[in-house]
Amino acid sequence: MTLETENDLEGLRRIGKIVANCLQIMGKSIEPGMTTKELDDIGERYLQNHGAQSAPRLVYNFPGTTCISINNEVAHGIPGSRVVLAGDMVNIDVSAAMDGYFGDTGGSFIVPPENKVKRHLCDSTRRALEAAMLVARAGQPLNGIGRAIETVAAHHKLTIIRNLGSHGVGRALHEAPEFIAPYYDPKDKRMLKEGMVITIEPFLSTGATHVDESNDGWTLFTKPKFLSAQYEHTMVITKGAPLLMTQADAV
Ligand code: CO
Ligand code: CO
Repeated sequence: MTLETENDLEGLRRIGKIVANCLQIMGKSIEPGMTTKELDDIGERYLQNHGAQSAPRLVYNFPGTTCISINNEVAHGIPGSRVVLAGDMVNIDVSAAMDGYFGDTGGSFIVPPENKVKRHLCDSTRRALEAAMLVARAGQPLNGIGRAIETVAAHHKLTIIRNLGSHGVGRALHEAPEFIAPYYDPKDKRMLKEGMVITIEPFLSTGATHVDESNDGWTLFTKPKFLSAQYEHTMVITKGAPLLMTQADAV
């Protein structure tokens, strides 16, 4: 969507804060031995208590409240009986709707003990998001986002999951501009406009370049030897720095 009124901004901020806080609380709650369903239940309670509805459930009939993906699962993992283990990488993607506005955020967490590879992957992916946000300005080409992600990934010797993109959001979970490539696409002539609401969500990997869909119809995964990380924010494009909608309260 493109922001039109002050109400739009308030609605986006409200749901943005809810999904951001939900992600933070879920991340802090991860314990080895718990199932991904138990982790999802924490998110479900949080969204319910704040009057928000799970967007993937609402829009796509996803069989869970949040998407929880472990290790070589990259995105859209279904919460269930899988037990979180020490050393796992857990990605949680929280998107929800309230009063007709949608917020979308995500992040990867390392269950201790950490190692250098996992820390490097997470830090670099966060940097890719930050670098992309620096070039996401009204009047600039949309493909600058992918160019920034690509530059950071190359610098840190990581690969990009090329078939997962960022996207427009706001009045729907996924809307125009659709598929903002995580790499430089010279054929993409779209421009960023003031008030445009988008996510930026790079997925970097230790070697994979694409995801496949599992037989469960949801989970997107790579070969078992690869790990991936993702960080995602919802933001409003301005002439200056984007307005961050998915800002968690400091806890
Ligand atoms: Co998301
Ligand atoms: Co998204």
